[in-house]
Amino acid sequence: MKIIGTGRSHPSLVVNNEMLSQILDTSDEWITSRTGIKERRIISSENLHDLAIDAAKKALSDANMDAKDLDYIICANVVNEFVSPAMSCLIQGAIGANCPCFDLNGACVGFIYALEIAESFYRSGKYKNILIVCAEEPSRMVNWHDRTASVLFGDGAAAAVLTEGDNIKATKMSASCSWDRLYQKHELQYSPYNTKPDSNQPLVMHGQDVFMFATRAAIRDINAVMKASGHKPEDVDHFLIHQANLRIINNIKEYVKQPDEKFPLNIHKYGNTSSASVPILLDEVNKEGKLKRGDLIVLSAFGAGFVSGACILEW
Ligand code: COA
Repeated sequence: MKIIGTGRSHPSLVVNNEMLSQILDTSDEWITSRTGIKERRIISSENLHDLAIDAAKKALSDANMDAKDLDYIICANVVNEFVSPAMSCLIQGAIGANCPCFDLNGACVGFIYALEIAESFYRSGKYKNILIVCAEEPSRMVNWHDRTASVLFGDGAAAAVLTEGDNIKATKMSASCSWDRLYQKHELQYSPYNTKPDSNQPLVMHGQDVFMFATRAAIRDINAVMKASGHKPEDVDHFLIHQANLRIINNIKEYVKQPDEKFPLNIHKYGNTSSASVPILLDEVNKEGKLKRGDLIVLSAFGAGFVSGACILEW
């Protein structure tokens, strides 16, 4: 497949580090030096699905495609206010598409998981035009009294439209279960037969374990897609890395020994927006006119599970 359109949508409220230091025992200096984040967008009056719909419409318009021509919609999402139906159904209705759709929970790797699935759907010969939407509100998952996790995340949505092409050169996906290093349990309805305690638990994160996993997994996955596609780091024009922590991105950059210009950043503006992170960055560099036809792009992300994935594609 090939990507022919991108779009993104952000909540209107900007929460900077100074504002967080008024409600948490933290500081701009700590957050900036440990993570690279200066501010993030947080959902206040908006609905996440409205951001998802907005991002989807922008991507369709960028692709010059009518929603009626879509053959599938895949929405990557971890939580939103609906347990059911899937958010992709809300998007499908709002944009006026007729195609089937489903949601996937690939944590922060959702976009790359969705790309690989879209590519497989296309290769099956059954579907041609596929919309991927990633929409996340981690601000509704974290414990706002826990300074370690709450300062890292931001909310947002981004989308990409794909059609037939030979531009996805290689993908590498992985999962290795260490669920207790990064997780959240949500509240379920009362059942008179349930004998277990309530499981409701805001996000729990063991930051240093996640940090180590992320660095190792990203380097391994990037190596794997390079090898599979027969490319070297110097052939790659853009490394779009999940914007979770500037220090993780710097470790990856050091490993592949490529210049800063190949690693666009927006972590200072948005923090970690989970699966929306990579497609938000993709849309930014696209709209800034930084992508030329034929450019080689590596995407890499990692997240709760642990899961990780990378993709090398031609623009
Ligand atoms: N403000 C001020 N101090 C803070 C703080 C905050 N927001 N969060 C933690 N601290 C404190 C800790 O309590 C600790 O204090 P202590 O030494 O008195 O015990 C100190 O800072 C160092 O904490 P530590 O956890 O060792 O920091 P770190 O260098 O490992 O950085 C993370 C913490 C979370 C920034 C880092 O581990 C990280 O980014 N991990 C990956 C997280 C991630 O990307 N998650 C999502 C993956 S998709």
